Amino acid sequence: MSDATADIGVIGMGVMGANLALNIAEKGFKVAVQNRTPEKAFAVRDDNPDLAGNIVPAESLEDFVKSLKTPRVAIFMVPAGQPVDDEMKKIAPLLEAGDVMVDAGNADFNDTVRRSQAVEGTGLKFVGMGVSGGELGARHGPSIMVGGAKETYPLIEPVLTKIAAKYEGEACVAWLGPDGAGHFVKTIHNGIEYADMQMIAEIYGIMRDGLKLEPAKMAEIFRDWNSRELASYLIEITAVNLDEKDPETQKPMVEVIVDEAGQKGTGRWAVIEAEKLGVGATTLEAAVAARGLSSRRSERADAARLYDKVEAGQAQFFADEAGLAELESALVTAKIIAYAQGYAAMAAASEENGWNLPLGTIAEIWRAGCIIRSHFLDDIAKAYDKGHTVVNILQSPDFVGRVAKGQAALRRVVAKAALGGIPVPALSAALAYFDDYRRARGTANLIQAQRDLFGAHTFHRFDKDGAVHHQWPAV
Ligand code: 6PG
Repeated sequence: MSDATADIGVIGMGVMGANLALNIAEKGFKVAVQNRTPEKAFAVRDDNPDLAGNIVPAESLEDFVKSLKTPRVAIFMVPAGQPVDDEMKKIAPLLEAGDVMVDAGNADFNDTVRRSQAVEGTGLKFVGMGVSGGELGARHGPSIMVGGAKETYPLIEPVLTKIAAKYEGEACVAWLGPDGAGHFVKTIHNGIEYADMQMIAEIYGIMRDGLKLEPAKMAEIFRDWNSRELASYLIEITAVNLDEKDPETQKPMVEVIVDEAGQKGTGRWAVIEAEKLGVGATTLEAAVAARGLSSRRSERADAARLYDKVEAGQAQFFADEAGLAELESALVTAKIIAYAQGYAAMAAASEENGWNLPLGTIAEIWRAGCIIRSHFLDDIAKAYDKGHTVVNILQSPDFVGRVAKGQAALRRVVAKAALGGIPVPALSAALAYFDDYRRARGTANLIQAQRDLFGAHTFHRFDKDGAVHHQWPAV
């Protein structure tokens, strides 16, 4: 009798891999699990007696492959980069035509394109799949962004549909396009995640330094906001973060945490890719840059001493109903602009790579399971679902009214913060983008004139066709 009993396999029993395997097992599939140190794979089975019957730990990669039914599907949940190439190299000779390798880590989509090309002609299939939702998402329902050959998707769809998060009964998983499409979308998800988090942190900065509120009071405000337009996982966890007390000192937890943000690189990739596509995602950039500056803490402390005599004005923020409503409205508006930038990057990438990314579907599968999940994404999904082409979310009839209404609050908050010396880089990037985006006549004519003067780069005239060079006075 064949040992091949497992429906699917997961390689890499780190936190994400183990939780994904448990999720698969819980949904009634038999899952083979493998790890560099096999004890970890056996521990996943032995530590979960309720699901043990559906978990098949393997002593070796050979055993793992033997335990899989054909066509075999092996999901890699290993650190991005070289480890994925290493796993592919090890497992490929053990597989046969029709088998599928799935990279479910946070890969650089360029690597996914390269890996997809490398398997072409071998008969093996490669899927690059973005998985969002952290540890709990992996265990109970992540949002899953799939890229790869369309014909391969049905081989993994039944399992993915069962394990994915559900939004009003709909599974938050979809095939989004060939090769790197899934990982590109996950990268933009993370860039938006950075912008969302940074803008929330900027509002926290206003609450702390402008309004002098205690974290517990801020938590109350965020909880209140979570019942309206801003309702989202990130706002919800912010309230929890702000309410928490340090058991050792009894101080608010956020006050004992060093103000240096970590980053693993996906947010930076989003910004780099957007720039390469000529779509400046400036709120995402501001968020990545702010994380970078946050980690130069001693340098900031030196600068603070150098400029301690600099008088910023008074930040005129008020913690009354109107003042808080203004902050809320500013955050909503900036958030719409950040998402518009992320979506613009995806639209440009779709065109550049011929992916035909289903932008409405992406909003749909982000409504639950992922870190940026929110009801707001349902609004974006609806804007795309209406069938009309959405050039940019800021031009969608569903959002024009909201942005037109909210922009005044964003403007006031950014202006007051600037006058009061409270940094709001992502909020101001959102406002600047909005103002630049809605200006029919910009200032690039001067840049063209400068380029033409120093480098004869030519320019176009309003009144004639074709590129021309002007004989500028000698400088
Ligand atoms: C997710 C997250 C996740 C990411 C963390 C940390 O969608 O589940 O995006 O993939 O790794 O959020 O990212 P940073 O370390 O870059 O902040």
